[in-house]
Amino acid sequence: MKWTNENRYRAYSQMSKKEETKLHETVSHSPWRQHYHIQPPTGLLNDPNGFSYYNGMYHLFYQWFPYGAVHGLKHWYHVVSPDLVHWEERGLAIEPDRSYESHGAYSGSGIVHKNKLYLFYTGNQRTADWERIPNQALAIMDEHGSISKHPTPLLIGSPKGYTEHFRDPKVWQVGDDFYFVIGAQRETKTGAALLYHSSDLENWSLVGEIQTELTDFGYMWECPDYFELDGKGIFIFSPQGLEPVGFHYQNIYQSGYLIGQPLDVTTGHFSHNLFYELDAGFDFYAPQSTMTPDGRRILVGWMGLPDIEYPTDPYDWAHCLTLPRELIVKEDKLIQKPIHELTKLRGKQLSFRDELGSFYMEAGTAYEMILTFDAIQAESYGISFRTSDVEKTTLTYNRESRLLTLDRGQSGQVPAQTYGTTRSVLLESSDLLSLHVFVDTSSVELFVNDGEVVLTSRIFPQDVSTGFQAFAEKGTVHVNGTHWSLS
Ligand code: FRU
Repeated sequence: MKWTNENRYRAYSQMSKKEETKLHETVSHSPWRQHYHIQPPTGLLNDPNGFSYYNGMYHLFYQWFPYGAVHGLKHWYHVVSPDLVHWEERGLAIEPDRSYESHGAYSGSGIVHKNKLYLFYTGNQRTADWERIPNQALAIMDEHGSISKHPTPLLIGSPKGYTEHFRDPKVWQVGDDFYFVIGAQRETKTGAALLYHSSDLENWSLVGEIQTELTDFGYMWECPDYFELDGKGIFIFSPQGLEPVGFHYQNIYQSGYLIGQPLDVTTGHFSHNLFYELDAGFDFYAPQSTMTPDGRRILVGWMGLPDIEYPTDPYDWAHCLTLPRELIVKEDKLIQKPIHELTKLRGKQLSFRDELGSFYMEAGTAYEMILTFDAIQAESYGISFRTSDVEKTTLTYNRESRLLTLDRGQSGQVPAQTYGTTRSVLLESSDLLSLHVFVDTSSVELFVNDGEVVLTSRIFPQDVSTGFQAFAEKGTVHVNGTHWSLS
C-alpha cells in the first residue's frame, strides 16, 4: 500500500471488518511473531504509555497505528496483567477523535487518583498548513475500564521559548501535589524537559526547566520520566541528535538516565552525575517506569526505534515491548534485572556444565538461559545463539579490551545496517561472569553480570536457526548453564 496522508491518518473506528480480517491474515503469515512479548495485533507499536498498577491489575498502553507498519495516526492500545507476565489484550483505549488531537494521541503516562486512572498524553494537532500544535490532554478511566476524555486540553501549544516539539507528560505525586515532566525543544534547537505542578490534576502551571548540566545535549528530549529510588533522584529521557562517541550513542536515537540528588520540585534544580545509556543493544527506546504495590521500580521500553525499517514491515506489523525490568541503584548507577515473576514462563529445564567452553545444544526459538563463567583462562569467550549452518548471533567478551560485543551481522535479515551490525560495551567492574538471556522468536535480551549491562535487540533469523553454543578462544573457560523453554 502506498501511504498517503489520507490513509496514514485514518482512525481505527474507520476500519471495516473486511480490512481488519485482511490485516490479521497478513500478520498471520509473518515468520517473526513473538511468543511472550507484548506485540501489536496489527500495525505498528511504539512507546509504552500509561504504565500503572490500578484496581488490582497492571495496566500498560502503547502507541499504536492499526493499519500497517508506519507511523500514522497514533492511538493508545491497552493490555492488562495480574503479574506483569501474562498479558490480556483489552484493545483500543484512546482514539484521537477531538480537534486538539487531530493528528495523534501521542505518548503519556498514568496516575491513580480518587480510585480512577488518570491518563495524561499529548494531543498532536496539525493545522491545514501542517503546523504542529502540541496539546496536553487528559482521559480518565474508571474501574470498569471505561475511558472519558476531559472536555478541553489542559495545556494548549508550547510555552514561550520552546518549539512545537513539546510532548510526553510523565506524572507523579509528592504528598498532596502532582508534577509532570514534559519533553521539549528550546528555540535554540536543543533538548530540554519542563516541570509542571498541579494540586488537582486539572490545572497545571509551569515550574520551569529541569535544570541539568546537559544544556546542549541533542536537539530534542522525548519521553522523560522522573522518580526516586533508594534516596536518589533518577531522570530518564530519550535524547535525539547525539553524535556517536566511541562505543556510545550508536543507534539513531538514545535512551539514558541521570542520577543525583532528589529533584528540587520548587525550582526544577537537579544536581546529577554523568549521562548513562540504559541499554547497549540495537533496539531500545522511549522507556517508561512504574512502581509495583510492593515498592519495586519497573521499566518497560519500546524494542524498536523511529525512522528505521524492519523485516516485519511487509507483514503489516512492527515492533514489540521489552520484558519488564526491575531497576536497582548500585554505586550511583542503575542495575537492571528481569523481574522475578518471569520464572512463571519456565517450561522444561535442562542444566549443563562444560569445562572447555565448547558446548552445543538445540535451544529452540523461545527460551531463557542463565550462564555463569569461571576458571577463566581464554582470551575471549561468549555465546552464539539462534544458529544454523548459515545464521548466528554472537556475544563475545574480550578480556584484554574488556569489551563485550553483540554481533547481529549474520543473524538473518538485519535491519538498520547503516548504523552498523555490532554493538560493544565496556565491562567496568569485572570479566563477563554471568549472563541471563531471554530469546524470543525475533528478539534477544541479554542481562550481563547481574544487570550491570543490558543489551536488547531484535533479530530476524529463520525458524530453523535453533542452535546454541558457548565458546572460548585461545584458552578455556568453565561454563555452567541452565536452559528453560518458555511459553
Ligand atoms: C517517541 C515519540 C514520542 C511521541 C510518540 C509518537 O518514540 O516520538 O515523543 O509522543 O513517539 O508516537
